[in-house]
Amino acid sequence: MISDITAARDAALTDIAGASSPDEVAAMTTRYAGKKGELAGLKKQLGSLDSIDAKKAAGAAINEAMGAVDSALDERRALVAADAMRQQVQTERIDLTEYVGTATRGHAHLVTQAWERLEDVFVGLGFCVAEGPEVETDWHNFEALNMGEGHPARGEFDTLFVDHVPPGGKPGTTVLRTHTSPVQIRTMLAEDPPIYVIAPGRVFRRDTPDATHMPVFHQIEGLVVDRGISMADLAGTIDAFTKAFFGRGWNSRLRPSYFPFTEPSAEFDIQRPDGSWIELGGCGMVHPNVLTAGGLDPEEWSGFAFGFGIDRMAIMRHGVADIREMFSDDLRFSEQF
Ligand code: DAH
Repeated sequence: MISDITAARDAALTDIAGASSPDEVAAMTTRYAGKKGELAGLKKQLGSLDSIDAKKAAGAAINEAMGAVDSALDERRALVAADAMRQQVQTERIDLTEYVGTATRGHAHLVTQAWERLEDVFVGLGFCVAEGPEVETDWHNFEALNMGEGHPARGEFDTLFVDHVPPGGKPGTTVLRTHTSPVQIRTMLAEDPPIYVIAPGRVFRRDTPDATHMPVFHQIEGLVVDRGISMADLAGTIDAFTKAFFGRGWNSRLRPSYFPFTEPSAEFDIQRPDGSWIELGGCGMVHPNVLTAGGLDPEEWSGFAFGFGIDRMAIMRHGVADIREMFSDDLRFSEQF
């Protein structure tokens, strides 16, 4: 019996030493250490031995063999598990420091840079950023801004119409917004004053591209509605913006003008440190009809608004001769900024 035990033990140990995966070790654990294993079978036969001494000796041999098998299994289990882990780490390895040859790092487009700087400057002056849809109703884009049907100023906006009829609406009343001014209306309808917002965004007009026009371009709108707002607040805000955005050596001025949605209205110009003037945008005191369209009482609230082109401002700032460059995909242009 002792020799059977020794043989079973040695066979088990040799087999276990050859196990190369966690699954194999698991199978061998059942086969050699389980209740139906060979050593367990021999243990059951102990009763059939004649002498106490023989039983004792065989029992001790079985215990020793089972102990040896158990520790061999433990050892092997740990070994193949570590091996499996090493292999997994090897195959799933990602070298985050890998050098990607000729790839170059890009940067934000000139328009994005200007847009983000404008937001930074106005947020610094206490404004929030508002948004509106690029596809608008003609009510928000024109009518609520004091440009009723047939108003001559509507003709100045070469409008692109969208072939969409809103539920319960009329055909031909959905447009691509021709300016960011409709965000004034949306903001007034959505928020209670005091309102201090800017609204940068993309706008659309049926222009043929040339050096100073594109059918798609960007504007930034400003709107303030509060109690007792005057033209002096408008002029002061424009000047503070000019100096914060362009630099200390720059100045601003307002020139009388006309816009249907402001009264009085002005153009605002900025002055370069060399003394020359650049026309930047339009502004004025929000027209009472516009406040009313925005759901506000013009007797209680007053405000100012302004709007100008982001692309146009960026090309002036950087001395770009042709606005079409801003929409080209030529890296030689973009990489300069
Ligand atoms: N929406 C005008 C345009 O596209 C620009 C403008 C002028 C905006 C005067 C304003 C304003 O808010 O007060 O030409």
